[in-house]
Amino acid sequence: MKSKNKFLDGNWHPVEETSAENLKVSGEIPEELAGLFLRNGPNPKKFDEANYHPFFGDGMIHGLRLENGQALWYRNKFVTSPNGFGPNTHVMKHGNKIYALVEGGLAPVIMDEEMNFLDDEPFPSAQNKRFTAHPKIDSKSGEMHAISYDFNEYLKGKEQVHYVVIDKNGKQTKDQIIELSSRPMVHDCAITENYILVFDLPATFNLGRRERQNKASSGDYPVIWDEDHNSRVGLQSRHSDEITWIDVPKGFLFHIVNSYENETGEVILDFCRYDKLFDFENPLPMGHKPFLTRWVIDTEKKSCKQTMLDDRSMEFSRVHPDLDGQEHQFGYMLNDGSLNRFFKRDFFKDQTKEHFLGGNKQAAEPVFIPKKNAVSEDDGFVVGFVYDKTSDSSEFVIIDANNFSDEPLATVSLPQRVPFGFHGSWINLD
Ligand SMILES: [Fe+2]
Repeated sequence: MKSKNKFLDGNWHPVEETSAENLKVSGEIPEELAGLFLRNGPNPKKFDEANYHPFFGDGMIHGLRLENGQALWYRNKFVTSPNGFGPNTHVMKHGNKIYALVEGGLAPVIMDEEMNFLDDEPFPSAQNKRFTAHPKIDSKSGEMHAISYDFNEYLKGKEQVHYVVIDKNGKQTKDQIIELSSRPMVHDCAITENYILVFDLPATFNLGRRERQNKASSGDYPVIWDEDHNSRVGLQSRHSDEITWIDVPKGFLFHIVNSYENETGEVILDFCRYDKLFDFENPLPMGHKPFLTRWVIDTEKKSCKQTMLDDRSMEFSRVHPDLDGQEHQFGYMLNDGSLNRFFKRDFFKDQTKEHFLGGNKQAAEPVFIPKKNAVSEDDGFVVGFVYDKTSDSSEFVIIDANNFSDEPLATVSLPQRVPFGFHGSWINLD
């Protein structure tokens, strides 16, 4: 489908809801993959072609159910929400609930394992259910931690974000205000054993500034790059209200790989770093390239050392699902630009392996699924939806993470293409 708006062109174009059973598989789906792969993304029901931006597209979740080496079903459904806008950014399980998520202050929507959206209230008894698309789950405590900003508060001029904690039973146990001096776009956060990291970076909401400067452009998003805004990370204690701010090299991030504290107490953060974003020359998110980067934050000296880890541009970084806040050896990324390669980074050995999907293929975020009796951190599978430009169709690939560059173990043919989207999760169902 052709469109002048790049976010409606090609595989960005929305699709209808559909479903299919007993899908064609080439190769062999590992028997132990018994569960549901879910992926959220924007799929606008209606759009103004000139001005549509995917961050505002209605959420649609694509689900693929695997069991006994078979692809039992695929279905895709709009996220239905009482407030009208279906969260479009992530879908993940925490405790016994599956949440569809978005940033900006909207409540998550709860769905079941058959992809029915439920009327259940997220975080029962919480006064406010604002949340984020990228919470972090501490696998030791079972707690889910989030930094949430709220469009409504930003519109009222409130320069603050919230530190929200949900316990393993789905109950909100913290909603702490963190005061700022601007209204930054805080897409991701990070946890370590003692901190949650607050990214106060120069991409800020500034409704009207473009218009005042007569530089509004189509497909625009109400975030600007504020050159006068420092880049800083807040080390918010997980155990008290105390926060320590540390200046970091100027830049922006959508996504981290992971963060942890090393044996000397330094905070290590691996992430995909942009030197700049949302500037007037390149107002769209893809205007600048992200590179895998490490920050080593000295909490005593309050300093930050930055190292670029790879000169290939990459994004949609993921880590082992049980390692949020703990030391990681591996991360998984998608190449920026042509979208036809997955990367597996070994942070211990300073090596990056590639999985080339094919010249006409365009993938999305790679999701790592550990084996049930894994003997190493990378003992598992890397999976994701892949679009084929030649046939205008999509498939689901399962790659052996230990033999990362080899042909996929299995490829599942899908009944219709899966548009580009954002984030997803594997949910074990046995
Ligand atoms: Fe994201």
